[in-house]
Amino acid sequence: MTTQTRTRVLTGITTTGTPHLGNYVGAIRPTVQASRDQSTDGFYFLADYHALIKCDEPARIQRSTLEIAASWIASGLDPDKVTFYRQSDIPEIPELTWLLTCVTGKGVLNRAHAYKAAVDKNNAASQDPDSDVTAGLFMYPVLMGADILMFKAHKVPVGRDQIQHIEMARDMASSFNHLYGEHFVLPEAVIEESVALLPGLDGRKMSKSYDNTIPLFAPAAQMRKQIAAIVTDSKAPGEPKVTEGSALFQIYQAFANAEETAAMARAYSEGIGWGDAKQMLFERIDREIAPMRAHYQDLIDNPAQMDKILRAGADKARQLATPFMVELRHAVGLRALSSGSAAPVAKETKNALPSFKQYREEDGQFYFKLVDAKGQVLLQSLGFASPKEAGQSIARLQSEGPDALADLKPILEFAPQTAGALSKVLMLLKAHTATNKK
Ligand code: TRP
Repeated sequence: MTTQTRTRVLTGITTTGTPHLGNYVGAIRPTVQASRDQSTDGFYFLADYHALIKCDEPARIQRSTLEIAASWIASGLDPDKVTFYRQSDIPEIPELTWLLTCVTGKGVLNRAHAYKAAVDKNNAASQDPDSDVTAGLFMYPVLMGADILMFKAHKVPVGRDQIQHIEMARDMASSFNHLYGEHFVLPEAVIEESVALLPGLDGRKMSKSYDNTIPLFAPAAQMRKQIAAIVTDSKAPGEPKVTEGSALFQIYQAFANAEETAAMARAYSEGIGWGDAKQMLFERIDREIAPMRAHYQDLIDNPAQMDKILRAGADKARQLATPFMVELRHAVGLRALSSGSAAPVAKETKNALPSFKQYREEDGQFYFKLVDAKGQVLLQSLGFASPKEAGQSIARLQSEGPDALADLKPILEFAPQTAGALSKVLMLLKAHTATNKK
């Protein structure tokens, strides 16, 4: 095995639906382009364990897995040049999920957007906050952390709604590294600035949950019909049209080059009729998609061939995952009883996290300090009149981490260590002790 030098890029798509133009523009096309970059090492997978969180229809999950895999390949992903696999073919992923679960603060997960949105919805409907919320939804970010950390990904291309999950994966990695040694790479989210969110038929973000999508590989006639259904204003042919806020224009832009886009903008201002604009959009999309349709259909018609491709991808992925999992199991103490010393150990404190201590001084005031496992003081407060005030400052440091330092500066004395070291400690504490803030 060669040492790891190339940047690892990893991303997954949840297998719950038929790929649409939004998936293509936002995920499939950019990853195919990135996969051609010789300086990167691509990991692309079908997130079918994630699919179980949202979908309890087995046939749909199976079909979606085939459709997304076929879309990726028909769009130009070369399974020989990247590692292309199904998440559920890697048993090490759920195994790692458990190790990460044990270094993730429950409070951190309470704040994950998807879970919080479900709770907020229940609260708004005066339901029990956790009504209809599975533990799978709650654990979603940890499973995603395992996907990413397992393959030591540096870069993770995702949509904006996923940034929080990458940050959580970073926190899991640094907590684990802090406790057990440097095993994980800290990943970074990559957001394609140039890829605008594609609007759907009704102008809102194109998404299966809004039922406003245009399937990527629908037959041409069907695609034309759906494009005709994109909402526009009611301006008549000849009347100048506005590009801003026009879903049709935004979709066109996602497929056209700068010149074509400028020409369409001109046509708008010159009053092109909506029917003609839609015809232009159809032709532009079809020019890109049509050459891939036959390949897609061929892949769909040969699921056994796809099984083979994905199994080969899983073999490749497991060549990394299996030995890494051995290393990680060893690191946390799940190891042969005969390996190293299994003698009784004094409580290992070297990597334990620092903690806040509150106390009262003879002057009658209330104080706190942040003390590391060896008893060294990292941070010392000035006196507060009440324990409540001291507690509030601690709570801010715990929930905001280093971000709270600037505000709290007047009431803190810093022990002599680098600001970077203190920030790192506060970040870890934040990851561990975050509580649900509304
Ligand atoms: N949660 C992602 C989504 O719904 C899919 C996903 C699962 C993913 N695991 C991942 C993306 C790991 C990037 C990396 O879009």
